[in-house]
Amino acid sequence: MPLSLRKIACIGAGYVGGPTMAVIADRCPDIDVTVLDLNAERIAAWNSADLPVYEPGLAAVVSRARGRNLRFVGQTEGAAYVAAADAVFISVNTPTKTEGEGAGKASDLRYVESCARFIAAHATGHTIVIEKSTMPVRAADCIKSILATARPGVTFDILSNPEFLAEGTAIRDLEQPDRVLIGGERPESIAALAEIYRRWVPTERILSTGLWSAELSKLVANAFLAQRVSSINSISALCEVTGADIGEVAAVVGADSRIGPKFLRASVGFGESCFQKDLLSLIYISESYGLTEVAAYWQQVVDLNQWQKHRFADQIAAPIADAEGSLRGRRIAILGFAFKKDTNDVRETPAIDVCRQLLARGATLAVHDYRVTPESVRSELGAQGVEVAATPEAALAGADGVAVLTEWSAYATLDWALLAGMLKAGAVIHDGRNIVDATAVRRAGLTLRSIGRGAQTNA
Ligand code: NAD
Ligand code: UGA
Repeated sequence: MPLSLRKIACIGAGYVGGPTMAVIADRCPDIDVTVLDLNAERIAAWNSADLPVYEPGLAAVVSRARGRNLRFVGQTEGAAYVAAADAVFISVNTPTKTEGEGAGKASDLRYVESCARFIAAHATGHTIVIEKSTMPVRAADCIKSILATARPGVTFDILSNPEFLAEGTAIRDLEQPDRVLIGGERPESIAALAEIYRRWVPTERILSTGLWSAELSKLVANAFLAQRVSSINSISALCEVTGADIGEVAAVVGADSRIGPKFLRASVGFGESCFQKDLLSLIYISESYGLTEVAAYWQQVVDLNQWQKHRFADQIAAPIADAEGSLRGRRIAILGFAFKKDTNDVRETPAIDVCRQLLARGATLAVHDYRVTPESVRSELGAQGVEVAATPEAALAGADGVAVLTEWSAYATLDWALLAGMLKAGAVIHDGRNIVDATAVRRAGLTLRSIGRGAQTNA
């Protein structure tokens, strides 16, 4: 008899678990969806009007499903829902290990393992366990061995169903994905999960593979995206010294249909909790199989990203540092702290590295962002020398230099004619996202320095 998933549970109510389950519940009103998390504060926020994740369109999706077939519960209450579930998604964090074997590179699977133990303890009958978290290839082996400790008569099958949503566009990505990937060993389990997605995703976009291909494909997809950003950023430096314009170069290169125009925006560097972590995981896996050249190839994508952030911080400092390179007494306005627009997420945001470097040289920073809370800024930078500004104007007042670090749309339309008088004389605007209106800046008599734009466009 074909399997049918009527009750599902998801462990982990973060940036992936929350929105993904909300969309499944919204699209499948007949499926009972429970999301559980250890973090009681997060669960309370999911049950309030002030959701813990900022995503355009998310509040509407949650409000349609919550209280109908979508619930958010704490871990203790969640045990009964895991027991009753036909399928349990694991959607917890898999950060880079900070200690032990593989520290600094390998993904830390302790949260995943703890979920597997929880499922083994509470599941009843037959349960499909679905890896939604991004895992190293062959992680399912480790989950299988933990599940094998369950009571006799309790059985499991494992699927890998990695998530490809991007923050800021998560709802659109979930509702209209390029592809849904389901890796597994048993066709009936794959078909049961595919049946859920088929409610709104065209069949040809639901790809099925073996378990190991699915796990590896997710890491590789992120590595390829990150590689494109590092590639264009490497060329941005070359544009700056040769007088070429990175926007023009990217448009020409991206017009080749074999290359395509996406992910060719030069920037201060890529951020987000996953690109670097997944690259490091890929590097660690390659090293552990003795593939030194493969590891070195991907390491360069990470290194280039670090270099780009440092290069940008140096450019901000150059015109205002004293002879010793110190920025003491200098105030720098930081416009944008999130790792990209339309999210409140600051994990691995390039702003952290850039700001820390400026602080280390003695600068005072005035940080503005439309969605990031002052607590998030302070938890990354500390309070010393850091002021969180409520408006861009408040950040810019009295600034010796300006750095645009997130591409919030509103920064593209700032009224520089009005703002010019608030800045210290000679303050340079460093655009780390190439969104600032160059004509308006120049008309206001200010100097703009954009990523990858050669001297002739900055003159
Ligand atoms: P997150 O940190 O926002 O959320 C993870 C949640 O899991 C947290 O709320 C945490 O409290 C909870 N948790 C951890 N251990 C638990 C346990 N044992 N029991 C119950 N709850 C537990 O992480 P995220 O951004 O949602 O990412 C989750 C996974 O999805 C990661 O593997 C990540 O690589 C992957 N991913 C993330 C994105 C993204 O855009 N953030 C996109 C695709 C894939
Ligand atoms: C990325 C991938 O796009 C998702 O497919 C994947 O699911 C997710 O990681 C994950 O696994 O976590 P996300 O990081 O949310 O999504 O957002 P992106 O749009 O990919 O941006 C990542 C970083 O690259 C941002 O800092 C962004 O500003 C930067 N970027 C992106 C550029 O600098 N230039 C570009 O052209 C594109």
